[in-house]
Amino acid sequence: MIEVHDGLFCLHTKSTSMLLRRTAFGHLELVHYGAAADAADADALAVKRTIAYGCATNYAANDPTYCLDVVPLAWSGEARGDYREAPIEWDTDLGAASDFRYAAHEILDGAAIMERLPQARTPDQTLAITLTDEAGAELILFFSVFGDTDVITRRAVLKNTSDTPITVKKLMSSLLDLPGRFVMTTFSGGWIAEARAERVPVGAARVVNEAVTGFSSNRHNPGFLLSEPDAGEDHGRVYGFNLIWSGNHYAAAQRSFQGITRVMQGVSPADFAKKLAPGESFCTPEAVMSFSDAGFNGLSAHMHDFVNRHIVPAHWQERERPVLYNSWEGCGMDFTERRLVELAKKAAKLGCELFVLDDGWFGARNSETAGLGDYAVNKKKLPDGLTGLADKLRALGLDFGLWFEPEAVNPDSDLYRAHPDWAITEPGREPVYGRNELLLDLTRPEVRDYIVDSVGAVLDSADIRYVKWDMNRHSTALGAKAYDYILGFYDVLRRIFAPRPEILLENCASGGNRFDLGVLCFGPQVWASDDTDPIERLDIQNGLSYLYPLSCMGTHVSAAPHSQTLRQTPLSTRGNVSFFGLLGYELDLKFLSSVDEKDIRSQIEFYKKYRSLFQFGRFTRLPAPEGETRWQVAREDCAAAGMFYRLAPAAPGMDELRLADLAPKARYTVMARQQNLRVGDFGELVRYVVPVRLNPKGVVMSTADSIYVMPDCAEVMEASGAALMSGIRLENRYAGTGYNENIRMLRDFGSRVYIVQKQKEWGDSET
Ligand code: GLA
Repeated sequence: MIEVHDGLFCLHTKSTSMLLRRTAFGHLELVHYGAAADAADADALAVKRTIAYGCATNYAANDPTYCLDVVPLAWSGEARGDYREAPIEWDTDLGAASDFRYAAHEILDGAAIMERLPQARTPDQTLAITLTDEAGAELILFFSVFGDTDVITRRAVLKNTSDTPITVKKLMSSLLDLPGRFVMTTFSGGWIAEARAERVPVGAARVVNEAVTGFSSNRHNPGFLLSEPDAGEDHGRVYGFNLIWSGNHYAAAQRSFQGITRVMQGVSPADFAKKLAPGESFCTPEAVMSFSDAGFNGLSAHMHDFVNRHIVPAHWQERERPVLYNSWEGCGMDFTERRLVELAKKAAKLGCELFVLDDGWFGARNSETAGLGDYAVNKKKLPDGLTGLADKLRALGLDFGLWFEPEAVNPDSDLYRAHPDWAITEPGREPVYGRNELLLDLTRPEVRDYIVDSVGAVLDSADIRYVKWDMNRHSTALGAKAYDYILGFYDVLRRIFAPRPEILLENCASGGNRFDLGVLCFGPQVWASDDTDPIERLDIQNGLSYLYPLSCMGTHVSAAPHSQTLRQTPLSTRGNVSFFGLLGYELDLKFLSSVDEKDIRSQIEFYKKYRSLFQFGRFTRLPAPEGETRWQVAREDCAAAGMFYRLAPAAPGMDELRLADLAPKARYTVMARQQNLRVGDFGELVRYVVPVRLNPKGVVMSTADSIYVMPDCAEVMEASGAALMSGIRLENRYAGTGYNENIRMLRDFGSRVYIVQKQKEWGDSET
């Protein structure tokens, strides 16, 4: 809800408020952003201004206390006394200075629609405040309120109202001056190591989170947090920020001498320059912000609800996603239709619902060196074409999904030979390649038309229900074109997928190199990382979970030892980690033993039973001892908790499971998901478990390993919600002193998943 009282703008969500005030000189002051507050609180909440500071450059001769350097602002400019970082840099007829002051405002129902940029759907209301600058420019700041999810979004549109060109070199989407001390959490990394949470105190030196690879990037996710220094997962004040944008981005936080932290976010100004002719406008992407005084988990819940309700396409909102099989890790580009159908038969038997044919199905694409750009089916591999394969999959009860990488081209391709100028290179220099690829120039309409037509034709040629849209090349020469490239990318996605809303689009960029809210507006899920080692995935999925819901994270089970880390992990852990996301399988099914098959079948059955809980339940990062990770998802009457261990200690002590979000008085049954141990993992220790002495390397042992199911300890307990939230004690772990069926056998990288079911007699209303 938005209210305006005599120059005071109040934006309210369910439990937060933002108060903005027009100062006597027309600047936009940020009076408050945080917990719910009323207009009547504004004077008490405002930072006081009754003295002059030394070294001040005063804005007005008649008011020595009015210095822009010390006013908490929601927008600022340059060379008028505010020496903090400016949200705008430009060249105008009046030079580089800028001073935007209030001219008008308007409250709109719903959103102010953008034509070319993606934006969050269905806000309650939007406040548009128009500021003007005497160089001849109008700046409209749009604030949209998403009351149900405690999110406010912001963006800026700059219009050249002068009669000479203006060059914009930097224009942020958002600027907030927040009184207080903060720690900034960023989510950084690289290929196969995305979204590592890093915490840095925000002090007098500026902290910057910026990506300049042309894309939102696996190096620096655009989302970040600012928290009070003593905030934790379940307590304390936390702000969350994100950007609906898939290109170069910039965010900075810096504390002023007066203790006010300036935080801004928008398109990266690196190499950026946009010339606006008279009458032309420039539109920034939409920045997203939220506040919670219930710690990081509280903030994550807002962001998760926001993505699920206001970002992903309407068709996919709360729609359950299929369990998929993906051909990549199992067969790479080396396949025939026969091999695929054999894999599909197994995948269908195991319970998969969608078969995704990854890279290698078109043109001369038999390795990473050729064929990218030519989307004609390779008839040697698929003699009956995509329709033939789709029909065979349909007969097995499987939907069909397909991989594309439409933005890039191999120089060894028919497309490149026909249109070498469509590829982006540095003029006058030898091209440099990434994965043998160059990017296509998506700023050119004919290039976009080619992609829309060629991908669209393939999608209409067979019954294709899913697309994995990949992109494996950083940009080099985009420079000032970087912004227009991303608009071109969005144009292509819109034209391909808006007329085909029922196709499930999963974005991917060498794994999580484009995990952002921009792509989520077009397709509801993103491949989180090429790293499917479950132990690495604990950090990656944990990092992403701060700002993105499980319903948008592709999480697959692959083979062990893992191809990237050589780590040997139990199949149970690979499944347990992948339950917390969108479950899929990505390994050669031919090499599964009958025990593996049985385990996978039961994993898929379990996931399907609790699918809506895992995909859309309220997610919590539970407290965990050092070196462990614990997650929970909860819905009205049911929760699931995952406990993930790393290295097994000798003689471990008691283990406590402490849950969240339960009804304190209701009674629950807690049950460990039944999972199996592998005989082969016990080597010669197996003599403690079976009555005969077996050669650990012998045939009997390896046969037993592949067919004999050895159930891990079955734990069932009953407790009130209050007891579960206070912490219950689990069965003992193996401690080297003997084995019995009540011992939890957790070796290195072991894990358990518990289902917590509210007992029937305790209705949903019980709290
Ligand atoms: C990228 C993706 C992988 C796979 C390959 C295919 O690396 O991230 O999942 O699709 O491309 O070439």
